Amino acid sequence: MNILVTGVTSGFGKQIAADFIAAGHTVVGTGRRADKLAQLQQELGERFLPLGFDVADKDAMAVAFDSLPADFLPNIDVLVNNAGLALGLEPAHQADLGDWQTMINTNTLGLVNVTHAILPHMVAKNDGLIINISSTAGNYPYFGANVYGATKAFVTQFSLNLRADLLGKNVRVSNVEPGLCGGTEFSNVRFKGDDDKASKVYENVQFVSPKDISDIVLWLANQPKHVNINRLEVMPTAQTFAGLTVYKG
Ligand SMILES: NC(=O)c1ccc[n+]([C@@H]2O[C@H](COP(=O)([O-])OP(=O)(O)OC[C@H]3O[C@@H](n4cnc5c(N)ncnc54)[C@H](OP(=O)(O)O)[C@@H]3O)[C@@H](O)[C@H]2O)c1
Repeated sequence: MNILVTGVTSGFGKQIAADFIAAGHTVVGTGRRADKLAQLQQELGERFLPLGFDVADKDAMAVAFDSLPADFLPNIDVLVNNAGLALGLEPAHQADLGDWQTMINTNTLGLVNVTHAILPHMVAKNDGLIINISSTAGNYPYFGANVYGATKAFVTQFSLNLRADLLGKNVRVSNVEPGLCGGTEFSNVRFKGDDDKASKVYENVQFVSPKDISDIVLWLANQPKHVNINRLEVMPTAQTFAGLTVYKG
């Protein structure tokens, strides 16, 4: 199969790209960091095609896609929309507007850009699977998740709305909604390089790993074509629901 995975320079995307390559597929992997992409190409070999661009920049995306072999884009079997980030954990009234805009531009606009470029090809060949990496943050509010959670709620509803539009087409859409996952750069990015603060998030918790998420993504890609897993929410066993909070001042 031909697979396009966004955000392969670390975390889930890196593992997903490696596992699809190991299973014999061809992977175009994207990200902004050219050095990480080059390193990955060394590791994964000639069935890995690196593509450097910012998903929020549709012009850069178009230039990057134009550089691919002409037959690749029209023949993508699986698109994994994984690139994304959280920035900050401050309450909304103290959050940085630039952080909010970056999250919106990356997690929603970026995901929409890539989907808009690939979906018509899938519909034209009446075959394909889009796997969107959303989050439990899109399902449940938590302190400081404000815009991050809202962008993931967008991803989840966009996935379901794609399903609605794809009535009668053999193009599938699955939304993966992970909870607390470690072994990625997610918290290092969220806390802007404060690695001590980031590592505390995962202290004494057996978190969901990139391998766990990658196994789920490959399982989704290996479902028979008449089966659509609409959404799949996954948490570590150690994580559960906080309940509603009451302030007693
Ligand atoms: N870790 C968790 O607990 C968790 C839980 C639920 C959902 N998620 C979601 O899972 C996805 C992957 O997260 P992760 O934990 O693997 O984090 P990660 O290790 O930080 O990986 C994020 C990836 O996204 C790419 N990316 C970020 N902004 C981008 C942009 N503007 N353009 C292109 N690529 C961009 C990064 O590449 P470059 O920096 O090279 O561009 C990187 O490869 C994200 O959508 C995240 O929201 C994570």
